Amino acid sequence: MDVLDHLTAHGHEQVTIARDPAAGYVGIVAIHSTALGPAVGGTRLRAYGSFDEALTDALRLSRGMTYKNALAGLPFGGGKSVLLGPPPPDRAAFFRAHARVIEQLGGAYVAGEDVGTTPADMQVMAEVTRHVGGLVSGVGDPSPYTAHGVRRAMEAAADARWGPGGLAGRTVAIQGLGSVGRHLASELAGFGARLIVADVDPGRVEDAVAAHGATMADPAAIHAAAADVFAPCALGGVLDDGTIPAIRAAIVCGAANNQLLEPRHAGDLAARGILYVPDYVANAGGVISGSVDLAGWPRARMTAALDGIYDTVRWVLALADADHLTPAAAADRLAEHRLAAGRASGT
Ligand code: NAI
Repeated sequence: MDVLDHLTAHGHEQVTIARDPAAGYVGIVAIHSTALGPAVGGTRLRAYGSFDEALTDALRLSRGMTYKNALAGLPFGGGKSVLLGPPPPDRAAFFRAHARVIEQLGGAYVAGEDVGTTPADMQVMAEVTRHVGGLVSGVGDPSPYTAHGVRRAMEAAADARWGPGGLAGRTVAIQGLGSVGRHLASELAGFGARLIVADVDPGRVEDAVAAHGATMADPAAIHAAAADVFAPCALGGVLDDGTIPAIRAAIVCGAANNQLLEPRHAGDLAARGILYVPDYVANAGGVISGSVDLAGWPRARMTAALDGIYDTVRWVLALADADHLTPAAAADRLAEHRLAAGRASGT
């Protein structure tokens, strides 16, 4: 990969590649934008097939965080760190090495947890740097907040589609009953929705059936369930040439990151008349919850921002209608306006 070409094409500000052989550490910190504030984004730990693959992930994910944070109205830019796994036996030394790299960046990047890392890892990093959130001692697990935000996004899409109170009495098919999916199931059941659920872990399905009277579905076919809303809350890339023609729901709205296998699939959903809520708008609740620890927001402000996901989705869908855009393109455009305004005002 020509790194400079890539940074120029996607507008990244800075990428740090660091190694600490004594700690068995190789990490990448990608700062896409600090136009709206410090670059905030999680620390992902994975066994990548190659260094290029890890770098590509860091660049793509950090840019995604810029858009997510901007559209959620947060005073944060976008960044991400990627650590090349598997971690050595001394996990604490590995995370302290990463924390030293973050400390050297002087607050331009603030880390949180992500796939492969835990609040306990963040707590270890906090011994070395204060530029870290998602601590055991802070707001804690972001998943309930993410689930609440997805529910608000779903209400907004349902109201846009079916009129006020549009989600009441609807059937929602949830793919994945993990940290977010099971909280979403509780929220929706409390809201009077009927649930169809699938997970590759049968125990999680049994729990949802027992707790909410949910109907179970085959994980391989949940996208095609006879539901009003399909909520992907497991894997990325679930909206593709194979699944889109089989979707029976009128709305797709869930927590999973990168639901569209390729950007063109937003057009395929629109062509079938399926209203797709862009994933990074619907799942912003997790990073919004981080604003308490990272920006010192009172909890009431955080709650208001979570509920604000409703208005953001309505705004995205209205722009999409007015300008004949897909919701994904409309969300990107709104995020870019916020970024341009931030750059102009020098925030
Ligand atoms: P998780 O790992 O706790 O749950 C994922 C669930 O999906 C597990 O129960 C797993 O068994 C199930 N699953 C895996 N493959 C499946 C398949 N083929 N069919 C059906 N179920 C399957 O993850 P979590 O935290 O609930 O996140 C879910 C998604 O939301 C991920 O894509 C994540 O990146 C995204 N997300 C999560 C946030 C959070 O606050 N946890 C914030 C923003 C996005």
